[in-house]
Amino acid sequence: MSAAQPLTVALPKGRLAKQLAPRLARAGIAPETFSEADRRLQRDARMGGVPVRFLMLKPDDVPTYVEHGAAHAGVVGRDVLLERGSDVYVPLDLGIGRCRMVVAAPEGSAASPGHVLRVATKYPRIAAAHYAARGEDVEVIFVQGSVETAPLVGLSDVIVDLVETGETLRQNGLTVRETVCEVSAVLVVNRVGMKLRRAEVAALTACLGAP
Ligand code: PRP
Repeated sequence: MSAAQPLTVALPKGRLAKQLAPRLARAGIAPETFSEADRRLQRDARMGGVPVRFLMLKPDDVPTYVEHGAAHAGVVGRDVLLERGSDVYVPLDLGIGRCRMVVAAPEGSAASPGHVLRVATKYPRIAAAHYAARGEDVEVIFVQGSVETAPLVGLSDVIVDLVETGETLRQNGLTVRETVCEVSAVLVVNRVGMKLRRAEVAALTACLGAP
């Protein structure tokens, strides 16, 4: 990654990219760069005098590109980062895309003593770490999505999942039992990129940091 190359920034496609556009506009990056009608997966822009290339990725892939140096930096939810366990710098919490990772269960259900709790989740690493931290033995069951279904049909006793408005839990008759962690979008930076592109990463951090 030489200074002659554009600064490469991995962004999650969709809602979060749209929320980032006004912050990046302050660094001179045209908001049209993030137009939803645009299907290009690499988009070139300029941040001041610096060429920047945005990679539009699936959120789960952002830490992978950054950790392996295919992107110097990226923006991703802390949930994805924790689940992937990627070795990257996290210099900034953007304070957007706020939600909570929670344990939820059907209303009125109770834990049965002597029974190993079954936990359905898209986040097996986060769920396992949560219960391991207090020495509780659980069975973690991986599902890809629509996690709220699992305890309703007997696949699991509880779920570990994200809650934003709480509407999905409510409409499926589940309630929050406990909070696992708070989640929001963070800036991630490749460890080598942080050293080689220090000034540009600092400029990116400054424009993304101010609300
Ligand atoms: C996420 C999450 C919850 C829902 C929470 O699912 O997994 O299901 O949003 O949002 P709410 O509290 O505002 O209702 P997503 O929409 O990503 O779909 P998925 O279930 O297929 O993963």
